Amino acid sequence: MTEVSWDALRASAVEAAGNAYAPYSRLNVGAAAVCDDGRLVTGCNVENASYGLGLCAECTMAGQLRLTGGGRFVAVACRSGTGELLMPCGRCRQILYEFGGPDCLLDTPRGVLPLRDVLPDAFGPDDLPEKKP
Ligand code: THU
Repeated sequence: MTEVSWDALRASAVEAAGNAYAPYSRLNVGAAAVCDDGRLVTGCNVENASYGLGLCAECTMAGQLRLTGGGRFVAVACRSGTGELLMPCGRCRQILYEFGGPDCLLDTPRGVLPLRDVLPDAFGPDDLPEKKP
């Protein structure tokens, strides 16, 4: 069982937000996750002049998960560059669900909650007829 240091995870999210490219919204976002092997992965939002193409912090973090050895998210925190707690948008909750499942823990304004509580009745990999690798 991986121990989660929430304060350290929140601090990592704030630090990751420092790498954000957000010249349009001016909202720097960082995401940080503890993985099932104990390692930490992070992400930041990366916007685009074609506004709709911007990437959320959780999205680039999912890329980092895959790029650094795969595995699963166990615990996730999202923060602005100035330290405010931010909840993942709906699309990002789905992205977190793909790699964390219903038991993945998320830092929320209501405390630490499992994804099953913030994305109820989720569609997920188990709803597909055939499991993909
Ligand atoms: N953003 C994230 O990075 N994650 C979320 O879950 C919500 C929104 C980013 C996208 C955009 O760059 C900025 O926040 C403002 O919407």
